[in-house]
Amino acid sequence: TGTAAATAETEHLGGEAVVAAAAEKLCTSADSEVSSRKKTFSEVQAERKEQAKRMVLINCPVKMSEKKFLQYLSLHGKIENHFFYESFGTFAVVEFSNGDSIASLQDATSIQRFRDEYPIPFKTRHFTLTLKKLSRQPDDQRLLHHHKQSTIPTSDLLQKLCRANNVSDQLNMVMDECQLTEENTKLRFLTCSLIQDIVGAYFPDSTVKPFGSSVNSFGRLGCDLDIFLDLDETKGDNTRRKTGHINMEYQMKRASSERIATQKILSVVSECIDNFGPGCVGVQKILNARVPLVKFSHQPSGFQCDLTANNRIAIRSSELLYIYGNLDSRVRALVFGVRCWDRERKITSRIPGPWITNFSLTMMVLFFLQKRNPPIIPTLGQLKNLAGAGDNHIIDGHDCTFVSDLNKIKPTENTETLDVLLNDFLEYFGNFDFSKNSINLRTGKMQNKPESSPLFIQNPFEQTLNISKNVDQTQVKRFVTLARDSAWILQQGEKGPSSHSSQPWGMAAILLAATTNDGGKSKTAARVQKSARIKNLLDSLTFNLNTQKRTFGTQ
Ligand code: CTP
Ligand code: MG
Repeated sequence: TGTAAATAETEHLGGEAVVAAAAEKLCTSADSEVSSRKKTFSEVQAERKEQAKRMVLINCPVKMSEKKFLQYLSLHGKIENHFFYESFGTFAVVEFSNGDSIASLQDATSIQRFRDEYPIPFKTRHFTLTLKKLSRQPDDQRLLHHHKQSTIPTSDLLQKLCRANNVSDQLNMVMDECQLTEENTKLRFLTCSLIQDIVGAYFPDSTVKPFGSSVNSFGRLGCDLDIFLDLDETKGDNTRRKTGHINMEYQMKRASSERIATQKILSVVSECIDNFGPGCVGVQKILNARVPLVKFSHQPSGFQCDLTANNRIAIRSSELLYIYGNLDSRVRALVFGVRCWDRERKITSRIPGPWITNFSLTMMVLFFLQKRNPPIIPTLGQLKNLAGAGDNHIIDGHDCTFVSDLNKIKPTENTETLDVLLNDFLEYFGNFDFSKNSINLRTGKMQNKPESSPLFIQNPFEQTLNISKNVDQTQVKRFVTLARDSAWILQQGEKGPSSHSSQPWGMAAILLAATTNDGGKSKTAARVQKSARIKNLLDSLTFNLNTQKRTFGTQ
């Protein structure tokens, strides 16, 4: 019927329309050629940034007619896209086709006044909808579809994992459940864009962009939002100063170092965010850290934000990880799997401390993949050799040069499955001599540790820095023990779903198994010592699997 309808439509087209349709068809095939080419990090960032400028954030009544809502907003211009989500209320993200629609909407809105509240005259893109006529009528029963902004509960994930076919499927499942969604990514860029509106009022040429796991392809739903305030444009081109005859006065000339200038700027910016940023709460200045930062919570999006300035090397490291994450589908699946395992087994923590971080774990997985035979991903040195003219980046004296065009990197000939890779990863680091060796992604080789930190992962760009300097000996030992025990569990356990057993297997088994405190000498860990929490999870898992078997008649 679809073809019949399409044919009927073609028959009604006049000559001009037929030409237009043919041209459109040609464009579509050209578009698909472009889309089959992998986009560079900068291209993706620029697209998302431009898109975010055309977006608004609207706090909506719980019971609202989506149709009327869209009709109302369409009065201000064509809507390209929209979605709803929950966070301290119901919110809508609306993307207009044209940025001018936002000014039109702002002009049509009023500011609610309360007795003890005095609005600050700063126009934001954050609105609250109170219109009664948009409420649902009794005949409009459709509920708003809320896009998920967090991962599924562990017990649900475990049940899903037990229904997979093999460990490779399980790793892909973990990734599918945990990775950032398109909507969550849009919300991250929108949040940065809203912060840019505030900062831009004082520093109009500055840009505010996300970095870290929000953009490096390894972000998990619920991860923090790392924000970078780029003031380079504001600072201007230094070379021009030498030849010009007129110099600009600026306050920062009184700052005795770049660090002090950054601290002063961040201090002012944090005040602006605190005072003028709707929904920005818990603003904290941490200006004496190695990288000075401002922490705050953006309530409408639910993101915990870390804002830094002058941190351009971190942007390069985000791009490097983006390249690795997009080279081969196994890279992200293994990273998500390993990080999920470490999160469940309390190796990583949300609380700052001597724990191994997600960033360090990602680097360990990448290093392991560089060491496969043949390697699954190239070393940073090899990526530097592929760099083109526009890829040269020296930041504060550090060489941050590497190829940006993914299409120039030859795909690997390695065909190992994720089953093998997960097992070998656990064995590799279960036997790694952390007391002697450091991890170096630039060379893809182990090196003698330059100093005595229990875990030494060289920062690929600031090569004297250790990205896991915070980690203590106890945590390294726990990690090694856990890696050994988990490898053993994987090797002993079932490799796939079993019709006669409802025991968790593969990833589910290593996520659940209890930890030992015997320093890894014994493998008795596999004889799972069930803590109350684990026992509950197992019970619910067994119950659900049995219920399912009964439902589908597989028992
Ligand atoms: N970074 C770094 N050196 C460190 C810590 C962080 O260069 N010792 C940079 C990395 O580019 C990292 C970014 O700062 O991606 C953000 O740090 P963090 O939020 O700790 O890590 P994420 O990669 O964002 O991971 P998570 O999802 O845990 O936030
Ligand atoms: Mg982060």
